[in-house]
Amino acid sequence: MFTSTLIDLALRFLKGEEQKKLDVLSNEVFIKALVSSGRTCILVSEEDEEATFVEPSKRGKYCVVFDPLDGSSNIDCGVSIGTIFGIYMMKDGGEPTIEDVLQPGKNMLAAGYCMYGSSCTLVLSTGTGVNGFTLDPSLGEFILTHPNIKIPKKGKIYSVNEGNAKNWDGPTLKYVERCKFPEDGSPSKSLRYIGSMVADVHRTLLYGGVFLYPADKKSPDGKLRVLYEVFPMSFLMEQAGGQAFTGKHRALDLIPKTIHERSPIFLGSSDDIEEIKALYAAEEQKNLAS
Ligand code: AHM
Ligand code: MG
Repeated sequence: MFTSTLIDLALRFLKGEEQKKLDVLSNEVFIKALVSSGRTCILVSEEDEEATFVEPSKRGKYCVVFDPLDGSSNIDCGVSIGTIFGIYMMKDGGEPTIEDVLQPGKNMLAAGYCMYGSSCTLVLSTGTGVNGFTLDPSLGEFILTHPNIKIPKKGKIYSVNEGNAKNWDGPTLKYVERCKFPEDGSPSKSLRYIGSMVADVHRTLLYGGVFLYPADKKSPDGKLRVLYEVFPMSFLMEQAGGQAFTGKHRALDLIPKTIHERSPIFLGSSDDIEEIKALYAAEEQKNLAS
């Protein structure tokens, strides 16, 4: 389905049939493809305020949450962007309701992203590890090029929008300071930040390290959306042997109350996330004692 969706999108765009913004166009293409698959009942897209309930004649049992074109502010300068998605099964066989998508991320059956960069890469987990596929345009098929992706236990890269530092909380400030000036004398981490979540998470998954979009004073819930950004990426991280943490809990334990809810997120190599968890635990202890 992804192959035909992408090719359809590219062809229509190249033929100039569509003058719409690429994120609006890609949303329409995904919605049409998902509805016509006959497998879905509820679709939640970053582009649509309300969830789409599939008409009964085309209905299946899966709920799909997705960001059709994440990082769209990068389109005009040719930086990698992507599609992020997660798939749930509806809770019971009755009439679909919004509760079917307001499930914790750990209930997802599958999650993944497609990155449109120097190659077109699909990274997918169905709950038994993570596999990476690369589009072969001559075949119009995705080829398994990165079987069983495992994130390194500890990494040498941190990835964050450091321009927000003046509004960060204590543990985030301390962690980023440690990345630059490690207290144990180990080498500093390198900073890499694209500002396109798919590309930043893809690099983190392959090379290790951390990606963070923390809370700050202006945005206490961070920026990234729980259902179609935080959950799919957290699912992939855990499946690849890494961790995903909100600053309070395991990210996949969150139960969203609304479909466009946001959450702070720290995800990446297990040892690096442990260090962040310890800083937040110490802060909590300090607050309890005072
Ligand atoms: P978007 O869904 O409006 O494209 O925003 C999400 C993007 C992510 O891809 C990226 O991680 C983040 O916004 C970057 O935000 P910032 O520019 O604040 O660093
Ligand atoms: Mg987005």
